[in-house]
Order: sequence, then C-alpha cells, then structure tokens
Amino acid sequence: MSLERRNAHESSPGTEVRIRRMAPTDLDQMMELALSLEHAPHWPRSAYAVALDPEAAPRRITLIAETPLSGVILGFAVASLLPPQAELETIAVATKWQRRGVARRILTAMTEELRTAMITEVLLEVRASNSAASHSIGPWASRLPVGARSTTLIH
Ligand SMILES: CC(C)(COP(=O)(O)OP(=O)(O)OC[C@H]1O[C@@H](n2cnc3c(N)ncnc32)[C@H](O)[C@@H]1OP(=O)(O)O)[C@@H](O)C(=O)NCCC(=O)NCCS
Repeated sequence: MSLERRNAHESSPGTEVRIRRMAPTDLDQMMELALSLEHAPHWPRSAYAVALDPEAAPRRITLIAETPLSGVILGFAVASLLPPQAELETIAVATKWQRRGVARRILTAMTEELRTAMITEVLLEVRASNSAASHSIGPWASRLPVGARSTTLIH
C-alpha cells in the first residue's frame, strides 16, 4: 500500500474509533459533549448515572465512541430497553468529529446490542428540522435487522 493510501486509511474512522460500553469515569466528558451541541438533549448528571445502573428500570445500553490511544470521547448513544421494545434516547457526536462515520459506527454496534437483548421494535424520535439526525438515524432505522419499528418525526 502506498504511503498516501496508508495515511488515508489510518485517518479513516474505522482505525481511529473504538466503541465500548459507558463507564462511570465517562460522565463528565459525556455531559460536556452534550452541552456543546444545540440539538442534543442536555441531561442532568442523575440521568447519566441511571443509564449506568444495571438495576435501573428500564435498563439502558450506553455506547461510547472514543479514540483508542487518548481515550477522548467522540460521541455516544443511549438506548432504553423494555423488551421487545427499545428507544434510542440520544445520540451525540462532537462537532469536529461529525461527518466522519462516528454515529454510523455507534449505531452499528448498537444494532448488535439490541439484537442480543431480543429487541424487535425500536422507537425513535427525530425532529424533522434536525437534518443531521434524520439523515443519519433514519437510514439506520430502515436497515435494522430487528423486526417492526416506528420512527416519529416531530415537526
Ligand atoms: C446526528 C449526529 C449524531 C450524526 O453524527 P455523525 O457522526 O456526524 O454521523 P455520520 O458521520 O455517521 O453520518 C452518517 C450519515 O448520516 C448522514 N448525515 C450525517 N450528518 C449529516 C448532515 N449534517 N446533513 C446531511 N446528512 C448527514 C450522511 O448520510 C452520513 O453519511 P456520509 O457522511 O457518508 O454522507 C450528529 O450530527 C450530532 O451529534 N448532532 C447533534 C445531536 C443530535 O442532533 N442528536 C440527535 C437527537 S438525540
């Protein structure tokens, strides 16, 4: 592979982004990231803490995208589970990392998690005016290997 091609490959999100479950130490960075985005829900600390609690009802799956070396959080998504249903409650990617496939990576990993949790219907709420979200989350929903699903567009 030429140096040019290798550099291009190494700067692709596939090699720079690691997806993992949320840990308690992520909380501050997640809140800061959400607060930096106008369209992301600005949850209080207690809401993120609930997302970490395996005993909480509904149970939540929170996935983090980070740079593997520095551990900087690039984005995250939270889904609440009430099997057979799940709701994608939030997804957020840091502004300077947007349009590099980070949300796509998170949603692909979330699909696997939902499948393992026996989810057959995913609920989504995306404002029609939020074109970044409707263009990234909408296609994900339409490709979900799980069964029925509904997408709510709020105008
Ligand atoms: C929505 C959001 C999570 C998308 O994250 P992202 O990492 O930039 O998305 P991706 O790079 O994985 O994009 C996947 C595809 O979605 C579409 N897309 C993403 N952002 C888009 C935009 N601003 N305009 C049009 N299409 C867009 C594109 O088709 C894109 O693929 P492409 O870049 O190959 O064309 C991000 O814009 C964000 O954090 N927004 C603020 C928070 C928010 O609105 N969250 C949703 C409500 S909870």
